[in-house]
Amino acid sequence: MTSEPAPRQVRLGAHFPGVNNTTVWSDPASGSHIAFDSFVRLAQTAERACFDFFFLAEGLRLREKKGRIHDLDVVGRPDTLPVLAALSAVTEHIGLVGTMTTTFNEPEELARQLASLDHLSGGRAGWNAVTSPDAFTGANFRRGGFLAREDRYTRASEFVALVRRLWTSWPDRVVHAGRHFDVDGRFALPRSPQGQPVVLQAGDSDDGRGFGATHADGIFTLARDLDGARAFSADLKARAAAAGRDPDHLLILPAATFALGDTAAEAEVRAAEIRRQQVSGQTAQQFLERYWNRDLSAYDPDGPLPDVDPLPEPEDPLLFQGQVRPTGDVAGQVRQWRDLADEKDLSLRDLVVEVSARQTFVGTPADVADQIDHRVQTGAADGFILVPHLTPGGLDDFATHVVPLLQAKGVLRTSYGGATLRENLGLPAVAPDPPSPTDPPSPSSTARRPA
Ligand SMILES: Cc1cc2nc3c(=O)[nH]c(=O)nc-3n(C[C@H](O)[C@H](O)[C@H](O)COP(=O)(O)O)c2cc1C
Repeated sequence: MTSEPAPRQVRLGAHFPGVNNTTVWSDPASGSHIAFDSFVRLAQTAERACFDFFFLAEGLRLREKKGRIHDLDVVGRPDTLPVLAALSAVTEHIGLVGTMTTTFNEPEELARQLASLDHLSGGRAGWNAVTSPDAFTGANFRRGGFLAREDRYTRASEFVALVRRLWTSWPDRVVHAGRHFDVDGRFALPRSPQGQPVVLQAGDSDDGRGFGATHADGIFTLARDLDGARAFSADLKARAAAAGRDPDHLLILPAATFALGDTAAEAEVRAAEIRRQQVSGQTAQQFLERYWNRDLSAYDPDGPLPDVDPLPEPEDPLLFQGQVRPTGDVAGQVRQWRDLADEKDLSLRDLVVEVSARQTFVGTPADVADQIDHRVQTGAADGFILVPHLTPGGLDDFATHVVPLLQAKGVLRTSYGGATLRENLGLPAVAPDPPSPTDPPSPSSTARRPA
């Protein structure tokens, strides 16, 4: 008799809803985005629901338009590492993953900070490596705009390889002379409980994919429809195999938003309500400005689409400070949206609600559990980084209603099995160096918190 193979496990991350486009901070149920209580509440909810990790994005400079802060950014954003370090004291099992750029940091500094977090948390540290290209952000730092687009990933690759080497180097001397870094020294910390904290990567271009498939343990990517997600996952796994890696050791973790209801119809209504909350009039204008390449603040968000055509490049430098502009056939996209708005009689804001903010999963808890499971079992993803729209209670309904259904399917743990994030994610342990007579006592045995 042949037995059924075990189902693939669903990996789950909990994205703290900071200053991103899906966050609704104007809702009466929305709490502080910078108070420690908010971080604790979301992290502890995710831990009770057996998520793999808590996740922080990074924005190193608030976005601006014509010298005024973007309306979504006025809530501010604390620095990642102190938040994660503080959370390590009020959680026990959940991984703590922070986004940090390879463009404006230094490898030794970041390696030391993450290794420290790994020691403090007993092996729960993770790093989402990003390249944060824009010169406006760079101008916040001592090097100004710094680093041409084409150099971002050569620096990132050298950066991550050097960080990994530093993590496992102690007590030996590290000598590295490369294109971007010249290091000759000794790392300040003994090997941390994970040996190497978990490394994720976010950045979907061809160079970004190549970098992630070679250096990362997991990829944080945009939400896509089922076919698009399958194609993305297949591409990244093939790149990992071509780099000589086991494709199962590269986890594909798309962002996912959700709306729940007692019936499918109720969930659709709720999803539409949330989308309208997410897209204020100003947000709608700013979304379209990135395509029109001109200031649209004079156009009524509840009126028709602007009757003017998009401006050719170059962009107005004061209009998009800290914002990523779309690439590809922008004129074609604008034509398509005009047709859609005519056909459905959509206002400027209606159009943006329609095209920008659709949730990944909408339905009853059973529908959503089925959709998540289906995507994982069919190779479209290894799991999801859930992005709730409310702070700090945005995961409550998911944790209460969807998580038990995933557990009942046998695709989500009911308690943490591993001691480290690496183990919980099913990633290979980093093999320890053979002990030498000069080695001090194992740091992991003294640094781990009691079970
Ligand atoms: C899903 C996703 C999440 C990202 N999150 C961040 C972030 O939190 N902070 C940041 O500075 N950049 C973030 N990035 C930007 C990337 O690091 C990168 O700079 C950008 O995507 C451009 O690189 P690319 O051309 O390879 O996509 C993110 C990108 C993606 C796709």
